Amino acid sequence: MALVNENYLKLPGSYLFSEIARRVNQFKKDNPAADIIRLGIGDVTQPLSPAVVEAMKNAVEEMGRQETFRGYGPEQGYEFLIEKIIENDFKPLKVELSVDEVFISDGAKSDTANFQELFGINNKLAVSDPVYPVYVDSNVMSGRTGTINTTGQFENIVYLPCIEENGMKPPLPGTKVDMIYLCFPNNPTGMTLSKEELKKWVDYARENRSVILFDAAYEAYIQEEGVPHSIFEIEGAREVAVEFRSFSKTAGFTGTRCAYTIVPKEVKVYDSNGKAYSLNNLWLRRQTTKFNGVSYPVQAAAAAVFSKEGKKQVKQLVKYYMENAGIIRAGLQSAGYKVFGGINAPYIWLKTPNNMKSWDFFDKLMQEANVVGTPGAGFGASGEGYFRLTAFGTRENTERAVERIKNRM
Ligand code: MLT
Repeated sequence: MALVNENYLKLPGSYLFSEIARRVNQFKKDNPAADIIRLGIGDVTQPLSPAVVEAMKNAVEEMGRQETFRGYGPEQGYEFLIEKIIENDFKPLKVELSVDEVFISDGAKSDTANFQELFGINNKLAVSDPVYPVYVDSNVMSGRTGTINTTGQFENIVYLPCIEENGMKPPLPGTKVDMIYLCFPNNPTGMTLSKEELKKWVDYARENRSVILFDAAYEAYIQEEGVPHSIFEIEGAREVAVEFRSFSKTAGFTGTRCAYTIVPKEVKVYDSNGKAYSLNNLWLRRQTTKFNGVSYPVQAAAAAVFSKEGKKQVKQLVKYYMENAGIIRAGLQSAGYKVFGGINAPYIWLKTPNNMKSWDFFDKLMQEANVVGTPGAGFGASGEGYFRLTAFGTRENTERAVERIKNRM
């Protein structure tokens, strides 16, 4: 008899974005004429940039010719891409990385979900609340979290409430934790941390020999000077942090799939005798066993993001979405909503009117304005009473959605 992994039974019924899709599909079935605008899942709508398309086409052609055909690539990724990443994404920040500290993958979602495998099952983890659900669910699956209580929180997770009173910035844990998930610019609140604020986390991790799992998938959206783009801008971070980055939101790769993770050689985990092990070695071991790399045409396409034309074109994409963010922010504010984010991130986090529950607001918005967003409660207990809209829609839909919210809600 095949036994189930009982940890899976501790998970909430469905993944947040699948639950939203289910509700939207049901609504569409019941209201076939409804013209629904989706600003729910953070999925891009603008096509790949011409430089990226050109590079991918050429790479596909190469794969079709005997002389240039390639089989398995390096599991860690092709050096032509890794070198461009180091040169363009980190050198300007004065962050030095070696080629074997960068691991190309098919997504920050899979990397943030998989990375926890390297840690002992008894580690205590801390997450912001609200939080991108993948960090929590992947730890539940591996059995690190204990069971869920009536407020939807797991017993072995330290939740760090990000609420209006603390400017939506996670407070340092009151107890010792071993693994810390941070995401900045934040999904879902759209808020950022300053260098000084991030430094406190690095100091905490150094004091407690914890590891920070830093998700920087939205760094390309930072508009303001002084906001850190990488945790490695902070002194000492190389000893305690791993950083996840993605081409999904930066260059429209949600359907193309390419990301990367930085694992500095200094970051360590320990056995019960206090002997240190390099996370870099362990991640390499994991990836070479369980992953065969991202396809050559996709890596070639990602490398084109760093070409002269590519950089210009990708910047335009970010600008387009950030203009959407401005339209949503201004529209909601003029309609009397309290809004957060949308300045250095493509997410707008709004307070629901009259303390309405997040899922009630979701239903009302879908029914009355035919606009789909993401209920804050889906990101954790402290998200209750909030709602997320994404700036990744088309301009036309963004403007129409804002008008509908103003007129129909
Ligand atoms: C979101 O909507 O939060 C994102 O699409 C999640 C993701 O990137 O997986």
